[in-house]
Amino acid sequence: MKILVTGKGGREHAILSALKASPGHHELFACPGSDAIESLATRVPATDLPSLIAWMQSNAIDLCVAGEESWLVQGDGLANLCTTAGIPCWGPRKESAQLEASKIFAKKFLQRHAIPTAGFSVATTLEEAQAALTTLPIVLKFDGLAAGKGVAVCTEQSEAEAFVTDVLDKRVFGPGDLLIEQCLTGPEISIFVSVCDDTYQILMPARDYKRIGDADQGPNTGGMGAVASRQLATPELLTQIEHEIVQPTVTGLITDGLPYRGFLYFGIMLTPNGPQVLEYNCRFGDPEAEAVLPMVQGDFASYVFAAAKGELNPDLIHFKEGWSICLISASAGYPATSRSGDLITGLDQVPQTAQVFHCGTRKNPNGHYETNGGRVLAVVAQAPTREAARDAAYAATHPITFPGLQRRTDIATLHFD
Ligand code: AMP
Ligand code: GLY
Repeated sequence: MKILVTGKGGREHAILSALKASPGHHELFACPGSDAIESLATRVPATDLPSLIAWMQSNAIDLCVAGEESWLVQGDGLANLCTTAGIPCWGPRKESAQLEASKIFAKKFLQRHAIPTAGFSVATTLEEAQAALTTLPIVLKFDGLAAGKGVAVCTEQSEAEAFVTDVLDKRVFGPGDLLIEQCLTGPEISIFVSVCDDTYQILMPARDYKRIGDADQGPNTGGMGAVASRQLATPELLTQIEHEIVQPTVTGLITDGLPYRGFLYFGIMLTPNGPQVLEYNCRFGDPEAEAVLPMVQGDFASYVFAAAKGELNPDLIHFKEGWSICLISASAGYPATSRSGDLITGLDQVPQTAQVFHCGTRKNPNGHYETNGGRVLAVVAQAPTREAARDAAYAATHPITFPGLQRRTDIATLHFD
């Protein structure tokens, strides 16, 4: 089978590795891919959606897997164009991907289908927003894709006012309204679901660590580490999440005429009033994918291919027992800025038992990897217990270094104490 994955980061590296590990020989392609991904997949030079679709058609691609989200909602939409071209696509159509692209669309969907979520209001002008800032803490969200940076959990009035100004006056994220949400409390869990029309399968749960610093200090990032294990949620909790959140979402998509085939990611907070949805993402999480996908056994490629064609077959894959832990190494200045061009050393000392996924690297003219973006590398290890998996992941990532490296020391420790 010829399979193309869109994206270039650690998640796409992990998806391609899982496809490569599937039985049978598959020819893999990535657009745009990365220097590291090149060892698994041929890079496709397309720079826009029409040229990518044309390339897939002329190269007889059998399956397109959406890694990252942006092409799902760009132009006419990746999945929409794939359908027209007769190419099965694992990733939702543009109209359904609004669940991620517009937080206000998602909140209205949640409200309409009585799915538990924080109370909210919408402000379109600076004055409306300022009038709505009546309680603290409060959560403010830009209504659009902002690479994980469009959310502010504000404990101070000055912080809230500054964010409101950024969104509605300075327009730092571009045009878009502001979502004002009640602040919830509790541990978070990421639930990944393969959705295929009216059928679904809940995959292994995960937790990511969004703040840059230890003890959850500092600004939010795309994710500094992740933990995956069936043991993250009791069977009772998973059943509750399925009945109160997953099932009504899948039914709601059908009711609203929003066809969906692809991974659907539920960001959930386990509040004292039960699980509540923080957000939907129309793709796998990053760095959760790097932790979850090494746990997949069976035939991942056939699983995704069949589901993209409308037949979800849960028996094609299963998940290893135990724990998988992913540690991110980030570059100097991240998340406010990021520095590229720092030489990475120690990659050759990572034990074979661990996996290394490249999030933001490139090869320099001498063929050595250097940093190329905010999140640089994901190092992942598995073991039967959380403690052993954490020790293995930290031992594996220890030799890797580069100037300005930032790495949390409490992944898989914090929130389990
Ligand atoms: P989101 O991109 O909407 O998931 O928000 C990013 C992060 O902000 C979440 O993972 C939470 O840590 C936090 N957050 C979002 N919404 C809320 C809320 N209503 N209450 C408390 N924290 C939130
Ligand atoms: N790990 C958070 C995300 O993928 O959005």
